[in-house]
Amino acid sequence: MTPFRFYLVTDTHFYEPSLGASGKAYEEYMKTEQIFLAESSDMVKAVFAQIMADKETEYVIMPGDLSKNGERESHKSLIKELYKLKEAGKKVFVITAAHDYNEWSRSFKNDELVPVEGVSHQELYDLYYDFGYSQAFAVDKQTLSYVAEIAPKVRLLAVNCDSCEETKGVIDDRLLGWLQEQIDQAKKDGCFIFAINHYPVVPCVPVFDLVGDAQVRNWRRFADFLADNGVELILTGHMHIQSINEYYSKQGNRLIDICTSATVGSPMQYRRIDISEDAVMKVETLDVPDFGWDLGGLSVREFADKQFVVSNINKINRALNGDEVYKKILKKVLNSIKVSTLGKIFFVKPDKSIKDKKFMDFAGEIGCCIFAGDQPHKKGTPVYNAVSGVLKRLNFVIRKIEPKLQKGDNPINLTEMVLNTIANNKGYSDNNAEFNLKNIE
Ligand SMILES: [Fe+2]
Ligand SMILES: [Fe+2]
Repeated sequence: MTPFRFYLVTDTHFYEPSLGASGKAYEEYMKTEQIFLAESSDMVKAVFAQIMADKETEYVIMPGDLSKNGERESHKSLIKELYKLKEAGKKVFVITAAHDYNEWSRSFKNDELVPVEGVSHQELYDLYYDFGYSQAFAVDKQTLSYVAEIAPKVRLLAVNCDSCEETKGVIDDRLLGWLQEQIDQAKKDGCFIFAINHYPVVPCVPVFDLVGDAQVRNWRRFADFLADNGVELILTGHMHIQSINEYYSKQGNRLIDICTSATVGSPMQYRRIDISEDAVMKVETLDVPDFGWDLGGLSVREFADKQFVVSNINKINRALNGDEVYKKILKKVLNSIKVSTLGKIFFVKPDKSIKDKKFMDFAGEIGCCIFAGDQPHKKGTPVYNAVSGVLKRLNFVIRKIEPKLQKGDNPINLTEMVLNTIANNKGYSDNNAEFNLKNIE
């Protein structure tokens, strides 16, 4: 096959800073927001500068959530940057997602949250025409999915299932039929096919299978469809997480789902993927570089992780605001309790390396590790021992919950799901990995 190499940059959530990103309303908003707004344009520009400096890599692929919330000015500014990539010789292929056209386009001016002009879903086709649609030989106008031959005999199946509120995350029969036609044609033409979709297809970590919109809603059906049709690779975003997952259909065919973090939120990474002549795929993870802001002595990663932890703690506390006594007690307990105290409640003795941590900080650190991929908390580590100890004590409750969470005929083992979420036990890295793909016949 034709070897090809590309950058994968997703969930740029680009926000045009001149719209306004300061004041009381902004500060309040950022207390519970995981991704950056004021800094986002400089973060994306810094990544694009790195990409432009690499003369060896021709393609840039972006699977959706291009803008913060569909602001017209954010789209305009991002598109300017995409043209710069193009002028530097890059071929850019994007799809859009719900954050690119929704009705929540807002800015922050004079301490207020102010509505600003957004764009409609239909407009996205014209706006991003030069970044996928102009090169496509088939477009599904209803969803803005398309197929393009991005290199000789290499076909990109750009799937969009984020085109309206009612069918968000659903690959329906009509779209499936259209995709089948495109795959059949690509096979007839002897092409290697790979796909992109904003939503992950395979749950990024096991517990995400319990969260409605964390992946394609009918994900098993779509995963089987792709795998059994010989589409072995899909590139996704949406969950702002670094994960790679292999899924095998009942017929034994494989689908590899590579989900990548937001460019503008912890762990702030993007990828370079190299597929060789003999179909060996090398996945490399890169960090968002210094983007020219004063981060108060923190590294880019520390800055992003801090926002991740603080915003999530604030979200929990906000959910516990209210006059109800139980909320007041729970809030006080959660914010003051140490891991050692929690251990005493569950008759678990946490290791000395974690026992003095505040529970909220401890949970925040685990959360950060999950979203960065390659989670280190494997069997025998202090975090594993503490979490598995508590799960054992809760076993009688877990057994009662499991049947209620079960969807279809796939039984749920909640304990295993949690332990395989805090540790990567898959046998390959979520960040830097190598796979032998099926070559075209
Ligand atoms: Fe996103
Ligand atoms: Fe999304």
